[in-house]
Amino acid sequence: MIPQALKQELLHRVKEAITPREAAVDVMKALQQHYGWLTDEAVGEAADVLGLSPLQVEELATFYEMIYRRPVGRTVIHVCDSISCWAMGGETLLKQLEQRLNVSAGGTTDDGSITLVPCSCLGNCGDGPALMIGDRLYGPVSMEKAEQIISGLPSAP
Ligand code: FES
Repeated sequence: MIPQALKQELLHRVKEAITPREAAVDVMKALQQHYGWLTDEAVGEAADVLGLSPLQVEELATFYEMIYRRPVGRTVIHVCDSISCWAMGGETLLKQLEQRLNVSAGGTTDDGSITLVPCSCLGNCGDGPALMIGDRLYGPVSMEKAEQIISGLPSAP
């Protein structure tokens, strides 16, 4: 259950939005930050705050790649697998990251530190291959650059 202060803050954000749906991603991200991922409980709480049904929240949650409906590592690396990044070696980068982290795409390292997620265009096409951690975009990412990024993570494997 979320703290009352967080609930009040989210209700305020929804009230300020033009429509509840406009605030949905914001609310889901805040709940995700609280729980670590968007748990079933969080879906119900988001629905309550937004005045939507849990099914409507579920539909929105599954549409957005940055919303996680299952547990993830402390760091989530999104690797672009769309066309511009493919052309610049994105597929190779993803394979190299799988090997480096000893995890399959979509999976989490054994120590729970990193989840590797292929995703659609990150909007950084001119600097492909691109990846994103949190709100930070990286590109172009060579394997050497990726190694530097991973080494700089708080829980680097
Ligand atoms: S295609 Fe990779 S960022 Fe757009």
